[in-house]
Amino acid sequence: MPHVLVTGAAGFIGSHTVDQLLAAGHRVTAVDNFRTGQRVNLARALHSPACELVEADVSAEGVLAELVKAGKPEAIVHLAALVSVPESIRDPELNFRLNVVATQRVAEAARAGGVGRVVFASSAAVYGDAAPLPAGEDAPKAPISPYGAAKLASEALLLGHAAAYGFTVRCQRYFNVFGPRQDPGSPYSGVISLFARRYREGAAVTLYGDGGQTRDFISVHDVARATVRAATAPGLASGTANICTGRGTSLREVLAVFQRLYPGAPGPRLAPPREGDIRHSRGDPAAAAVALNFRAAVPVEDGLAELAAGE
Ligand code: UD1
Repeated sequence: MPHVLVTGAAGFIGSHTVDQLLAAGHRVTAVDNFRTGQRVNLARALHSPACELVEADVSAEGVLAELVKAGKPEAIVHLAALVSVPESIRDPELNFRLNVVATQRVAEAARAGGVGRVVFASSAAVYGDAAPLPAGEDAPKAPISPYGAAKLASEALLLGHAAAYGFTVRCQRYFNVFGPRQDPGSPYSGVISLFARRYREGAAVTLYGDGGQTRDFISVHDVARATVRAATAPGLASGTANICTGRGTSLREVLAVFQRLYPGAPGPRLAPPREGDIRHSRGDPAAAAVALNFRAAVPVEDGLAELAAGE
């Protein structure tokens, strides 16, 4: 049974990735420090005898290397991160440790442990706010936050190690991921997680700007599928791919779907555009189709209906 070590396993994307790995018959070592990950996200996974949970901080020297030496996974899926852009701006040193140093630990653990493949959770944030639409992987990279910079630096670290030491790295630039288990805990959480909670509570959402802004919203089920494929599909070469739908959805469209799902809900509270907001963001999904044979399959409307129905 192939063995995959997942860092950030109790997080939003991590826990769905663990669920899909187990469903596909893989053995999983699920690593998390529970800084932002939640045990409850792994509730289902931990019923499986094929899933082992390890509480550990992967940015600490040697911790991951030891786990890899002991468990000999075929692949590492590195999803552990400081995930909030505003937090990276408030605390750039912490961002450096959790988003860059931790990646170096992964590269070193892969090298020392002879791991064949590493999958890395990168982000559309590497493009900044000036990418052409849709953004292809070769678009200029101009991160505008410590978070985006750390993701770009991490891609380079891993790809350089992969070339030098002969393992495979797949960097996955996730766009605006949404779905069950996304934490709506801060005003800067993903807009769909915030909207879903407000609608569930019967409270009004806040709409910044005119709602004409668009994002490439992709369901976490699709993202987990792309991640499992990158970790386990035979014969992949190192490379980088957007994980996106290629389709822009406006906030007005998102609100219209929620209004249909919650017919009695109050309309949105209007607020001025959020400072630093990008008007449009959309990725080119072609490289993932070629390299991973991956195409997003969940329409945004279906993903929103799933949220309204509960998990
Ligand atoms: C993402 C980051 C954000 C960062 C920005 C940098 C996440 C979840 N967000 O934002 O931290 O600053 O990239 O480019 O990773 N919106 C509302 N009402 C709300 C919340 C959001 O109208 O209650 C709007 C926002 O103003 C924005 C859109 O929804 O126009 C999407 O917001 P968000 O989900 O935060 O994604 P990004 O804008 O891509």
